[in-house]
Amino acid sequence: MKNLIDIKRLEKSEIERIIELAQEFKTGVRQSSVAGKTACMMFFENSTRTKISFELASQRLGMNVIHFDGASSSLSKGESRKDTFDNLKAIGIDTVIVRTREDGFIDSSLKELASPLSFVNAGDGVTAHPTQALLDYFTMKEKLGTVAGKKVCIIGDIVHSRVAKSNFALLSKFGARLHAVAPAYFKPAKTDFPVSYHDSLEGIKGADVVMLLRVQKERLEGAFDAQNYIDKYQLNSEILNNYAPNALLMHPGPVNRGVEITSELLDSERGKIILEQAHNGVFVRMAVLEMINSEENS
Ligand code: CP
Repeated sequence: MKNLIDIKRLEKSEIERIIELAQEFKTGVRQSSVAGKTACMMFFENSTRTKISFELASQRLGMNVIHFDGASSSLSKGESRKDTFDNLKAIGIDTVIVRTREDGFIDSSLKELASPLSFVNAGDGVTAHPTQALLDYFTMKEKLGTVAGKKVCIIGDIVHSRVAKSNFALLSKFGARLHAVAPAYFKPAKTDFPVSYHDSLEGIKGADVVMLLRVQKERLEGAFDAQNYIDKYQLNSEILNNYAPNALLMHPGPVNRGVEITSELLDSERGKIILEQAHNGVFVRMAVLEMINSEENS
């Protein structure tokens, strides 16, 4: 594994290896083999969880961490992307961790490069967020043992969600039953995976996992009737306990309290897994950086 761009391109065995490594890092039985390598954090879109956990993961592995600030870089003086990456490689960067609004940013960058540089996709546009899906899967495995045959239902703004797409890609490889609850305007025109769509929260009935998504207002083109969405799709403890009393409640974050979820549910016992997801993100990202930067891989 030289790059991590999209879950679709990973073999099941590679995903299993990442999960195994993450577990070893979490339990402290694994030491880093990539100390001294250098990661460059290139975040063109805002982030809290992904950015901080990649930085902490790199530090725990003994890697150097450099922050690239687009606005103060020579990209803003007209330097091309190809020249930027070739210079980063020449300076000594091993892995670039990228968050961008542009779908397919890494693929288009890789085509142009003179010398190899590893990339990790930390979320591109509405396409993919592979490390989020990996940490979600890690958390599901911790809690459920397996996702095979389990009903996983994702609620909300599926069309703009790179998290939903990466989760569908991963969970379909491991035999989960994929469901989604979304109004028509958040349902993608086509889907690559066998997802059963529902237009009401009754769709979560009997789910083993219920995953909420934030409405991505920054990507909406038309007017959005927030109150109508809240009336039909906001999850609270009563609805969750009624339809899916045993489900894991998950959310990739950031949460918009009072929109997709009530504060009382988020702050309840059932909401606690959401912070466990964020915690697990560090170990999963350690595993990804270890696999990409390991000498076995060069
Ligand atoms: N889940 C997630 O990607 O959160 P951030 O945008 O805060 O990184």
